[in-house]
Amino acid sequence: MAFGNKKISPRSANDSSTPVAATPSRVAAPAFGGTSGPRPVGGFGLSNKPGTGSVVVVPTPAQASRSPASGRSSMIPSIVPDAVVSANYYEYKKQINDQLLASPEMMQRLGALDNAQAAAEIQESARQMMVDLELPLSKAEQDQMLRDLVDDILGFGPLQPLLDRDDIADIMINGPTEVFIEVGGKIEPAPNCRFTDEAHLFNIAQRIVMQRGRKVDEATPMCDTRLNDGSRVNVIVPPLTKHTTITIRKFKRDRLTLNDLVKYGAIHPDGAELLKIIGKCRLNVIVSGGTGSGKTTLLNTLTAFINNGERIVTCEDTAELQLQQPHVVTMETRPPGLEGTGEVSMQDLVRNSLRMRPTRIIIGEVRGEEMFDLLQAMNTGHEGSMGTLHANDPRLALSRMESMVIMGKPNLNVRNVREMIAESVHVIVQVNRLPDGSRRITNISEITGMEGETISMQPLMEYVTTGEDDRGRLVGHHKFSGTIKPKFFEKAAFYGEGERLQKILSSGV
Ligand SMILES: Nc1ncnc2c1ncn2[C@@H]1O[C@H](COP(=O)(O)OP(=O)(O)O)[C@@H](O)[C@H]1O
Ligand SMILES: [Mg+2]
Repeated sequence: MAFGNKKISPRSANDSSTPVAATPSRVAAPAFGGTSGPRPVGGFGLSNKPGTGSVVVVPTPAQASRSPASGRSSMIPSIVPDAVVSANYYEYKKQINDQLLASPEMMQRLGALDNAQAAAEIQESARQMMVDLELPLSKAEQDQMLRDLVDDILGFGPLQPLLDRDDIADIMINGPTEVFIEVGGKIEPAPNCRFTDEAHLFNIAQRIVMQRGRKVDEATPMCDTRLNDGSRVNVIVPPLTKHTTITIRKFKRDRLTLNDLVKYGAIHPDGAELLKIIGKCRLNVIVSGGTGSGKTTLLNTLTAFINNGERIVTCEDTAELQLQQPHVVTMETRPPGLEGTGEVSMQDLVRNSLRMRPTRIIIGEVRGEEMFDLLQAMNTGHEGSMGTLHANDPRLALSRMESMVIMGKPNLNVRNVREMIAESVHVIVQVNRLPDGSRRITNISEITGMEGETISMQPLMEYVTTGEDDRGRLVGHHKFSGTIKPKFFEKAAFYGEGERLQKILSSGV
């Protein structure tokens, strides 16, 4: 039985999730979200009791005892207001859900249908059950329940409506009743989103990771994966956390452009021009910033100014970059499979990319030993290569680079590593998420060489905060370096941008 790869329309555009099964005897050869990977073993089994949760995978007894499904009174939401539904709503929903799953004929019928038909079938049966049970639900609650049941059985449960919303950047689930979203740069509780209990939440998490042939359990309690729409997912489960915790960075179909960044005040228009020049002149660039500060977004905007004639090879954990050029090869790393084999690391990809005759190499996020390979690429004729890394200011970015190189090559002398960085990287662009939630390009610095044991840098543009407005938003401005001549001036001049570069820097905004 497989609903995998069939679409529920219109609510579950990204869903090709695992179908709900009831017991092994009821379901022949279950398919896990269309993946051909083996069924996870060890710690998980199929529930023989329809009442244990809404999907097929159940936690080990140890996990279940830590988070008893019966502890409903403690699950009354503390932070997620239930504005629409009454107190017994979730009780009733579970009741109907369990009844639906308890019917082998129903499960068999669903298996033969496409998702739209299956959704209609579920709703029809559920409606009848509501009538038979005479549940005291308002019309709005009944409608809501029909939608929720379809999401639970065919999609990712309470998560599904959030996944379907385009305005959400991140979804953060800390427990069955603690769900937060980031909308417009602000984190807020997700309205009316809660899981029945820990087992329900855990099962949804398991369903998500199974789509890619992964699993989470006590032995492998952490997992990075992604949804079919490209959204990035991190799952971490008890005993490492109190509750199953899921963090989703939603895939953005339309990445912000440099013009958008100017419009949002993330950068001054002249700063945007400076970035265009940096992108065009084949400078080696490191974009540095914290998690969610806008590194990938900025890297993507920088690639917009790459010449169409160049061959670009990108290496990413998840293909997020959206290059517009005609000649692009996109590669993705692969985590180890269920047996712990088959991993393709970032370093493997970067090394391979060097054999693919690239003009430039672009690495989504540099986290480890591949830093050395990127520096080498930058240094050996692949000018214009770029990558992002996690650091809070340009100085720290330099020490991150250094430690990442040393991590893979502990025998290298620190001074040599610094020289290598100074020779390879031309510019560091710093992005930051400021305390008021706004994201800004806070610094563009040029690496100028070595002074003694230290790498020397000069800022070309900095963001200076001057205070707060009456709504708590930071007030500040971008300031340019003045008349200093950047080290890459000759290069800019070669690309016909020398004069413009000097004009921007001396504008002193
Ligand atoms: N300057 C900006 N203004 C508003 N939103 C932004 C800005 N830069 C990025 N974003 C949004 O912030 C989220 C995280 O951006 P992303 O580039 O993926 O961050 P990172 O790569 O640093 O983790 C995305 O939803 C993105 O659209
Ligand atoms: Mg990123």
